[in-house]
Amino acid sequence: MTTASTPPAVEMINITKRFPGVIANRGATLIVHKGEIHALLGENGAGKSTLMNVLAGLYVPDAGEMRIHGEPVVIRSPRDGFDLGIAMVHQHFKLVMNQTVAENVILGLREPRFHLDMAQVKKQIEAVGRQYDIHVDADAYIWQLSVGEQQRIEILKALYRGADILILDEPTAVLTPQEADALGQILKRIVGEGKTIIFISHKLDEVIRFADEVTVLRKGEVVATERVTPETSTSHLAELMVGRSIVFRIHKEPVTIGGVCLDVKELSALGEKRLPALRQISFQIHSGEIFGIAGVAGNGQKELADVITGLRRATGGAIRLKGKDLTNAHPKTIIDAGIAHIPESRIHTGSVGAMSVSDNIALKHYRAASGPFLDRSRLRRMSRELVEAFNVSTPGIDTRAGTLSGGNLQKLILARELTTNPTLIIAAHPTQGLDVGASEAVRNRLLEQQQQGVAVLLISEDLDELFSLSDRIGVIYEGRLMGIVDARQATREEIGLMMTGMVAP
Ligand SMILES: Nc1ncnc2c1ncn2[C@@H]1O[C@H](COP(=O)(O)OP(=O)(O)OP(=O)(O)O)[C@@H](O)[C@H]1O
Ligand SMILES: [Mg+2]
Repeated sequence: MTTASTPPAVEMINITKRFPGVIANRGATLIVHKGEIHALLGENGAGKSTLMNVLAGLYVPDAGEMRIHGEPVVIRSPRDGFDLGIAMVHQHFKLVMNQTVAENVILGLREPRFHLDMAQVKKQIEAVGRQYDIHVDADAYIWQLSVGEQQRIEILKALYRGADILILDEPTAVLTPQEADALGQILKRIVGEGKTIIFISHKLDEVIRFADEVTVLRKGEVVATERVTPETSTSHLAELMVGRSIVFRIHKEPVTIGGVCLDVKELSALGEKRLPALRQISFQIHSGEIFGIAGVAGNGQKELADVITGLRRATGGAIRLKGKDLTNAHPKTIIDAGIAHIPESRIHTGSVGAMSVSDNIALKHYRAASGPFLDRSRLRRMSRELVEAFNVSTPGIDTRAGTLSGGNLQKLILARELTTNPTLIIAAHPTQGLDVGASEAVRNRLLEQQQQGVAVLLISEDLDELFSLSDRIGVIYEGRLMGIVDARQATREEIGLMMTGMVAP
């Protein structure tokens, strides 16, 4: 949509941003044309979120210049960014759960709230929704909405406030493939209105489908900016990201499946809204077996993981680990029994941002780290080894976990959970937010654990991931197991049908 006379919407020139012990951006230059979707790619910790936080005014750069629509600007605060029409939807949403959609949309607007006519506001919100094909119920409470819906509200909020340049930090990491496609359509509509979008993603196929242009960051530096054409390949993008040609491959060795490890029998539980979320679910996982759970998000997967790990009460049925009854046992008893958990919301339940990297590791390795006295030096040695082995990019083990990049925080939690010598691992979306290389490493780690006789419950929406790792796949729909299939024989169509509640013929 650019002509010679239209200046780029965004020009970030030679941006440098330092943090203690890290240079997050080194002389990075990003040019984004008006009316286009521009993707930002790079490995975990490459500096993508930081560069966008600079553009949105959350961080002030140490060096560099910026121009918006050709005009030199200094952006010192989110307010400055907002005044220039720049809005950012973060990796972790900032909506207020117990307020309605309409209340969230107007939250923090400059006019005092009592000057706003809520009926009028609702009408306007719905009008903006219609314009961009974002369906909303302005009276719904945020807690009633799915993750995908919450995200659309964040986008709507930005548009309602007149955003012209919209930044989305990994918008599809938490979406199902269907929701991601729907989001892609919304983004195309938004740029169709002459607005500009920058989005960060680790999903290379998505970058190819949605973006007009892509910029790749490596260790804080921009290494390439290219037009996306029908010829652009995922392997080319991956090569730009890591700097060498790579073949990603998962090799699943045959394993000997052992005896029953986890026995789940007629398990029922209530969900967030006090409605049945699990309805008499029964399955068994053997030692050395990876059992996948396929399903569209929100069909009971989270509740299943929560009930098994003691974070939610079962209202019926039983859970046994190697014959030991763990139904409604205390979470600590369950951990001690050998169940490791890679939770879905790692930021909230998986880690403590204010604590150091090594203290986050100690959260689960207290057995190793304690004894009669907390053995600090042993914990520190182990922390260094884990950071190294899992390639967690951090200045050191005393760094606050909250300052790690999104993907590196994930890696830290994975490192901790996969090394507690578990009997069973519950892995919910284990590669969410990880770059392609790190995803492959994690998948291989799960296979390694399987080789050692560990049972794995793998919850994922990524059918490729489920097929490449699982031995059997159970399909969940509205809290029921629709069926269990052999991963070597099942087809995507069969599983897809069951995911929508139909039973394969
Ligand atoms: N507030 C902060 N304080 C200290 N260091 C930070 C802060 N924010 C980011 N960093 C560091 O800057 C580097 C770049 O982080 P950034 O979050 O920009 O990466 P990213 O490319 O978004 O990665 P990911 O794909 O994992 O989200 C990392 O080493 C990170 O630890
Ligand atoms: Mg990030």
